[in-house]
Amino acid sequence: MNLIISIITSILILLTMSCLIATTLADPVVISVTDFGAKGDGRTDSSQAFVMAWTSACSSEVPATMYVPRKRFLISSPVEFQGPCNGTKIEVKIDGSIVAPDGAQSLGSSDSWIMFSHVEGLVINGGAFDGVGSSLWACKASQQSCPEGPTTLTIFGSNNVEIRRVTSINAKLYHIVVHSCENVTLEGVRIYAPKDSPNTDGVHVQNSMNVRILDTGIRTGDDCISIGPGTRNLWIQRVACGPGHGISIGSLGKGLEEDGVENVTVKNVVFSGTQNGLRIKSWGRPSNGYVKGVVFKQVVMNDVQNPILIDQNYCPRNEGCPNQNSGIKISGITYTDIKGTSASRVAMKFDCSDTSPCMDIGLQDIELTYQKQPAQSFCKNVRGMTLGVVNPPSCL
Ligand SMILES: *[C@@H]1O[C@H](CO)[C@@H](O)[C@H](O)[C@H]1NC(C)=O
Ligand SMILES: *[C@@H]1O[C@H](CO)[C@@H](O)[C@H](O)[C@H]1NC(C)=O
Ligand SMILES: *[C@@H]1O[C@H](CO)[C@@H](O)[C@H](O)[C@H]1NC(C)=O
Repeated sequence: MNLIISIITSILILLTMSCLIATTLADPVVISVTDFGAKGDGRTDSSQAFVMAWTSACSSEVPATMYVPRKRFLISSPVEFQGPCNGTKIEVKIDGSIVAPDGAQSLGSSDSWIMFSHVEGLVINGGAFDGVGSSLWACKASQQSCPEGPTTLTIFGSNNVEIRRVTSINAKLYHIVVHSCENVTLEGVRIYAPKDSPNTDGVHVQNSMNVRILDTGIRTGDDCISIGPGTRNLWIQRVACGPGHGISIGSLGKGLEEDGVENVTVKNVVFSGTQNGLRIKSWGRPSNGYVKGVVFKQVVMNDVQNPILIDQNYCPRNEGCPNQNSGIKISGITYTDIKGTSASRVAMKFDCSDTSPCMDIGLQDIELTYQKQPAQSFCKNVRGMTLGVVNPPSCL
């Protein structure tokens, strides 16, 4: 009897042990920033602790999680979380918030505050980033000399990245930048800054392929989403934008040699009280760049200043734009099912370049009104086709 009991006990112990070993192998290693001395009192600088926690998680050979608990952590200098890491997946799980230092000069002339670079399989899950931008905005408004300010969160040179349920408030400059990346998903992101905060673009994508921005709300002072040179296969769906300056491809063509923008889809988007809706913007300067293959579909405009806009004559202060002709070639842009209200009479404006007219523009099922009256459209150097009911009447 005793023998049987001890055999059963041994078997149970063995089973439990193997289960424990199995879970240890399968579960990610969790490394909390507090293990490295991060305080979470909102006042003590935790930059060093965060970098040490990152280094530890990044060198793990098994999946690792860097954990930020539900407290306020001050990161008072620019930090870079560098890869490549040893594992194939690394998660940054944030329950708390990460706070920038106040003051217009507080991050010097750095152009990023929190940066992840060269990390494959990065997941940033939750949390709030507070850029504490108001002192810098006030400095800019008072025309003093102020730094341009840093982007709150930059993802650079990284592939297979997910940014989920992250909140960014009051960025000093841009909120989120995706630069030189492939396969990045932003989902359930929330972005807030006052409508008069300068240059606080929500998400800026540049030189990147296969980026998705889904189920995201952006209220800010500049573009909700800005799309820079070298962007391909960008998918934007279920985004609410406003206040802000809308979704903008460009400004493009500032330089002569520039990568094009190709294959962009913007679908199920609502603009409320924004300066622009769907905009393509280029400098009136010579350039080899282009925009081709853009689909704008199922978009609602609520009181938008310029709902549909192509502007190829961007030239602030009229400096350095010989003949004001943009070299950017714009082609294959379709607008389908765009409904709502314009806050100005000209709801649809295609102001294209004399030397490279906009080609193959498609309009289908457009219904935009201005103060309950018919709105107007404007065309210059543009060719294309109209299908279905289009109001304001097409000038293509
Ligand atoms: C990755 O693992 C190797 C050993 O397998 C080690 O020498 C190296 O330092 C690790 N890299 C990092 C970034 O920790
Ligand atoms: C894209 O990244 C996700 C992880 O975010 C990964 O699961 C997926 O396999 C990647 N897709 C490709 C084509 O590499
Ligand atoms: C365009 O981009 C989408 C993703 O946004 C992708 O699924 C599709 O295959 C791309 N089309 C081409 C022709 O590359």
